[in-house]
Amino acid sequence: MEVVSTIDQVRERIKQWGNEGKTIGFVPTMGYLHEGHGSLIQKAGENDKVVVSIFVNPMQFGPNEDLANYPRDFEKDKIYCESLGVDLIFHPDPKEMYSERFCTYVDMSILTEELCGKSRPVHFRGVCTVVSKLFHIVQPDRAYFGQKDAQQLAIIKQMVEDLNIDVEVIGCPIIRERDGLAKSSRNTYLNKEERVAALVLSQAVKIGEELVLNGEKDATLIKETMIAKIESEPLAKIDYVKIVDGLTMQPVERIEKTVLAALAVYIGKTRLIDNFIFEI
Ligand code: PAJ
Repeated sequence: MEVVSTIDQVRERIKQWGNEGKTIGFVPTMGYLHEGHGSLIQKAGENDKVVVSIFVNPMQFGPNEDLANYPRDFEKDKIYCESLGVDLIFHPDPKEMYSERFCTYVDMSILTEELCGKSRPVHFRGVCTVVSKLFHIVQPDRAYFGQKDAQQLAIIKQMVEDLNIDVEVIGCPIIRERDGLAKSSRNTYLNKEERVAALVLSQAVKIGEELVLNGEKDATLIKETMIAKIESEPLAKIDYVKIVDGLTMQPVERIEKTVLAALAVYIGKTRLIDNFIFEI
């Protein structure tokens, strides 16, 4: 496994692999890797070569968010990647990605207006900008994203279509702890009591999903049942609970086509997300 920090080094390796006719699978991450990331890396193993980027992207954090405190452990990440057969880690410095004169952004309408885009106004501009830069640098055949960040996955798929980026975007299922909590680098912020309280997210998701699977079509009723569950936990404060169209991310009133039921909840100071997709 090779670890590089400059764009030139990545390009050199990619060019060589291109000449050898190798296919490239790419997993963009912000590091502090867990089995959620690991599942994407394993799936990317369907390509000849696997590239993982580890970059805590300053542009996608708002001014009052957790950029400075975001957990980092590059040495541990390296060992984990090595164990999963990763071929190349790209671990750039923010200066390598954003020069002093940097002023070009990839922004998106509609899909970013609801859910996390509403609560985190600059977030998806930062995500789209960095992911399109990474796509240009790595030029992968396939790129892997988790369903855990369902809005991000929908946005990246749309961006790739809109900007004619030649990469296949592959969504992968949410990996959970044994008790149901979706794995997240941010779970490390939770103290013991909060860790227990955080279960309310996956429990609300399960309740909503069961209602839908049992044929309930009324989105408001489903949402309210999920909200009531979350509100029963004193440490939880709802950011949003929404049921939206799976493609446009716009709220729906009835379950008539593929929908995403997504929620963001503060457990103490930690903001966690979870969701389920119901495909029709
Ligand atoms: P990060 O939060 O590190 O997540 C990297 C990838 O891992 C994302 O596609 C995310 O959806 C996926 N992932 C995280 N937890 C998961 C879980 N429990 N199950 C399945 N997949 C999971 O998302 C980002 O980084 C950044 O926004 C990034 C795309 C790298 C751009 O900076």
